[in-house]
Amino acid sequence: MIQREHWGSRLGFILAAAGSAVGLGNIWKFPYMAGSNGGGAFLLIYLALVFTIGLSVMLAEMVIGRLSEKNAIGAFKKLKGGAWPLVGLCGVGAAFTILSFYSVVAGWTIAYMVKAVTGGLSSSDPAVLGAAFDGFIAGNISPLVYHAIFMALTVFVVLSGIGSGIERASKILMPALFVLLLILIGRAVTLPGAGKGLAFLLQPDFSKVTWNTVSDALSQAFFSLSLGMGAMITYGSYLSKKENIAGAAGWVVLLDTAVAVLAGLLILPAVFAFGFDPGAGPGLTFITLPAVFAQMPFGEFFAFLFFLLLAIAALTSSVSILEVVVAYFVDDRGLSRKVASIIMGLIIFVLGIPSSLSNGIMKDTTFFGMTFFNLMDFVSAKLLLPIGGLFISLFVGWVIWGAAREDLASHNGKVPAWINIWGILVKFIAPAAIAFILISGLIS
Ligand code: PHE
Repeated sequence: MIQREHWGSRLGFILAAAGSAVGLGNIWKFPYMAGSNGGGAFLLIYLALVFTIGLSVMLAEMVIGRLSEKNAIGAFKKLKGGAWPLVGLCGVGAAFTILSFYSVVAGWTIAYMVKAVTGGLSSSDPAVLGAAFDGFIAGNISPLVYHAIFMALTVFVVLSGIGSGIERASKILMPALFVLLLILIGRAVTLPGAGKGLAFLLQPDFSKVTWNTVSDALSQAFFSLSLGMGAMITYGSYLSKKENIAGAAGWVVLLDTAVAVLAGLLILPAVFAFGFDPGAGPGLTFITLPAVFAQMPFGEFFAFLFFLLLAIAALTSSVSILEVVVAYFVDDRGLSRKVASIIMGLIIFVLGIPSSLSNGIMKDTTFFGMTFFNLMDFVSAKLLLPIGGLFISLFVGWVIWGAAREDLASHNGKVPAWINIWGILVKFIAPAAIAFILISGLIS
């Protein structure tokens, strides 16, 4: 048997896992989810969920991955079998649905890179920017071309393999994105009127909170941290036995949360400064930021740089999603990495077509009252990921607890004291809270 590929270093793993977590979920989705859920209260609930349930499930996935050295489905087969591999199967299903619409949105970021250079963004009028965005995503051809370009890039990185593709890209891009966000925030918070946006995000108003807010926060936590579908199982499977994964899980959660909060601090002040509607939904980032750039010296340059980094952040996430699918077909179905990447990439591209068109000609074709795009988002982020997380917690807490404890012990066999807290979280608190929030969100 060929030896399983491994990450080149611990830092490489952390950055690749953080690269998976940090993406459109942080910069595109988080600001509009916070915006349409009342701001500060959403942020607080989100943070509480991330550092309890999110961190616990993150570590649980990494442990499953490292113990099994297998893909999302194979891991459950190897460690226990029975019905458990179904959890991984749901994850692989979620990977198809998420990537199909994720790649459409990532395509928009590439299109906006091009627009930045060709001068298509030079306005700070909300009406003009909003109309330009709506007009662009409603198109039949152009958004699909960008979706195709993005999927092709994703396939290319995944077929290049773990070390040379995924790890190398993440090492350069993550720090660059961080620095650029800080520069842009400097501009956004000094715009006249920005203070209202800061207050909106930092002063919680709990009167707006419903169970739906809480379930939105939970689904956002899973989506943003890449949890519940086996991405961290798959990445963890390429870890060598000697790495300290608890520290790695902590870093990934911290970095991801930092970027989401920074994105909120960038977008929401600008939203208020320019009089946009914080509840505008998925277009929020794309219509607000161009207004900020229009107010900056070298605005086009910064716009180009921003959308470039966002596209790259999306790419380090999309490769982790495709990797979940490809790892399964390579490990368990005997396909070569190359063939699996290309075929699965094509299928996902096709699945994304109706998502893209649902912003235009398929606007009125609804499923349970949702457009195809919203349906894919709902099924994956609001259902499949939290359900996956629930069973992943139960699996680690009740099925492989002994092995998980041992895996986290240090070389001299000492088990760290916090492991008992984690045990309570994965055995009881996380599964109960996820089940409760899911059900309350659905019936409210
Ligand atoms: N976490 C990624 C983001 O925030 C998206 C993602 C979801 C990646 C699920 C992997 C698994 O953009």
